Amino acid sequence: MKRFLLAASCAFAMSGAAAQAADMSKMHEMMMKMGGPTPDERVEMNIPAPMKVMQKRMMRQHFDTLSEITAALAANDLKKTAEIASSIGWTPEEANRCATISEAAGQKELLTLGMAVHKKADELADNARAGNRDKALANLSELMKNCNACHERFRL
Ligand code: HEC
Repeated sequence: MKRFLLAASCAFAMSGAAAQAADMSKMHEMMMKMGGPTPDERVEMNIPAPMKVMQKRMMRQHFDTLSEITAALAANDLKKTAEIASSIGWTPEEANRCATISEAAGQKELLTLGMAVHKKADELADNARAGNRDKALANLSELMKNCNACHERFRL
């Protein structure tokens, strides 16, 4: 009820158009602070829409995996760290997945960028297995940089 009253009073205070104009000016201010509007010059991955949906789902899974690796490292559970990192290592299945997407998009670079991520995950797993938490943490940072190297080059 309280929320309803608040929403109703806001609606009286500001018409829809005025609220939108206020939002736009805030947005404009935010964009100027970030250096102003610039075109997105990344290369579009030219793949069918359902494949884009799949790619994004896979990406969110990867992001979740990084969170799990971080949690395992924070808990100093290096065995678990190695297990999770291996799950995104460079296996024949992963190579196949990356190659398929790369071929579908007609961009060989996608395969190279993908491989760098998965091989770094293997390195992280090896260091965790060897009990070297510091090196594993450094690998995690490098792994994230590898993720973003592709984001800087390509978009969906
Ligand atoms: C070979 C290229 C490539 C690699 C490697 C890669 N990504 Fe992505 N990812 C993309 C592209 C392309 C997009 C879409 C970006 C856009 O359109 O702005 C994306 C989008 C995402 C998104 C947004 C998903 C959504 O629902 O919109 C997340 C999260 C993400 N990636 C996480 C990761 C993580 C974490 C890694 C590393 C473990 C990673 N990505 C590695 C290409 C890649």
